[in-house]
Amino acid sequence: MTEYETILVEQRGRVGWITLNRPQALNALNSQLAQEVTAAAVAFDTDESVGAIVVTGSEKAFAAGADIKEMESMSAAEMRATDHFGSWSDFAAVRTPVIAAVSGFALGGGCELAMMCDIILAADTAKFGQPEINLGVIPGMGGTQRLIRAVGYYKAAEIILSGRIMGAEEAERAGLVSRVVPASDLITEATTLAETIASKSLPSLYAAKAALDAAMETPLAEGLAHEKQAFAALFDTVDQKEGMAAFREKRSPNFINQ
Ligand code: CAA
Repeated sequence: MTEYETILVEQRGRVGWITLNRPQALNALNSQLAQEVTAAAVAFDTDESVGAIVVTGSEKAFAAGADIKEMESMSAAEMRATDHFGSWSDFAAVRTPVIAAVSGFALGGGCELAMMCDIILAADTAKFGQPEINLGVIPGMGGTQRLIRAVGYYKAAEIILSGRIMGAEEAERAGLVSRVVPASDLITEATTLAETIASKSLPSLYAAKAALDAAMETPLAEGLAHEKQAFAALFDTVDQKEGMAAFREKRSPNFINQ
């Protein structure tokens, strides 16, 4: 497996794990980490033995944001020319379902990274926010767009304009987090959820994720048309026949991911 310096990467069963590992900077997302997370996620995405990916951090921090020290001296021209956060779009585009298992701080780019994932599972210690306004900037990794889609305009506006940090319970009530679990159970719960997802048929997982993405990005009629096509296409897969035969025969399906 490729050597990484800012993340730990491991495959356990059919689940690919990416652990952000810059403890000295509360997992602040610098360019190297962005490239490594993206490379690891893309590698898992092209490996059929992986059916789900989990991104996690440490107990204290999922990630405390983009690396402020790396950005501080940059000019607008440099920011544009380097497309500073550009590599994250390849992470957001992976077909495999991705779970963010969040403990501690998920601020700025950390919150935005969690929102690029499909499911956010939070420890009761998790703290979410977009404090960029305190630095004289705004969210730059999708926060102004994805937070609104997650929690609605008014809640997102309060969080982004004031920089206020939300606890895990509030984030769950707002719809950002799918479930809050005790911090000591976070990895076990993420493992169970990821293994459950990874046990399904890959073509249907890819289709479900693409249809969910379409719902985020297109008007209803277009999204419904997307779903209709994707649903029909799955009837050419071996696993659709197997899944439905298994139901009729009252047994568990043996999916072959085709
Ligand atoms: N970038 C770079 N370094 C960071 C960092 C960041 N986002 N967040 C924390 N660190 C570093 C600190 O500088 C400190 O390093 P030193 O010991 O070398 O000074 C180390 O991590 C530990 O941090 P603290 O001592 O500050 O820890 P704390 O427990 O007292 O506070 C915190 C924790 C409240 C999260 C605080 O670190 C903090 O406010 N961090 C910045 C949060 C932030 O503003 N995030 C948004 C960044 S901009 C962004 O993300 C843009 C975008 O949209 C993509």
